[in-house]
Amino acid sequence: MASKLAPNAFIMLSFFLFSLIYVTSTKAQLETLSPDNRKVEAGMTHIHFFFHDIVSGKNPTAVTITQPTSGSMTSFGMMNMMDDKLTEGPDPSSKEVGRAQGLYAATCLGEIGFMQAMNLVFTDGAYNGSVITVLGRNTPMHATREMSVVGGTGQFRLARGYAIAKTHTLDFTTGDATVEYDVYVTTH
Ligand SMILES: *[C@@H]1O[C@H](CO)[C@@H](O)[C@H](O)[C@H]1NC(C)=O
Repeated sequence: MASKLAPNAFIMLSFFLFSLIYVTSTKAQLETLSPDNRKVEAGMTHIHFFFHDIVSGKNPTAVTITQPTSGSMTSFGMMNMMDDKLTEGPDPSSKEVGRAQGLYAATCLGEIGFMQAMNLVFTDGAYNGSVITVLGRNTPMHATREMSVVGGTGQFRLARGYAIAKTHTLDFTTGDATVEYDVYVTTH
């Protein structure tokens, strides 16, 4: 009996070990594909800056151009136009590298969710005069948002890629926000 069982036990153990290795390697593969872990692919340019959305005070850089529908908890229907400063560091007085010109429209009934359409207009260094055009969904109450890069001009002609936005600071009294951006583009 024992000599008959031994091969079966060996097959079962092999199968178990194989499954374990297979599951482990599949998991590792999925992890490298998840957005937060995604490696910068070869030939992609990474651009990092801070975006300042100033809605309060005497010199706002974002203004409401259509009001939300009355009673909406998610500001549905509101549209803001912006010419927001982009700086090297989180401090708004750090070196300006460009502007985010465009609009964000509250298009979601269920939560605060914007359809954001903007040109990232670079005004400094190697990218001075070049533009990256972003169109995507921005849900500002989420820690991380991803938007699409749909094109560009100058250094960014034929650009494709994505922008990752993370709120750095949000003043709940004024509504002013600083958002960290990591933009990954390729023009190949
Ligand atoms: C960016 O380009 C404009 C137009 O060519 C030029 O006037 C300006 O000085 C440049 N800015 C920097 C910081 O290089």
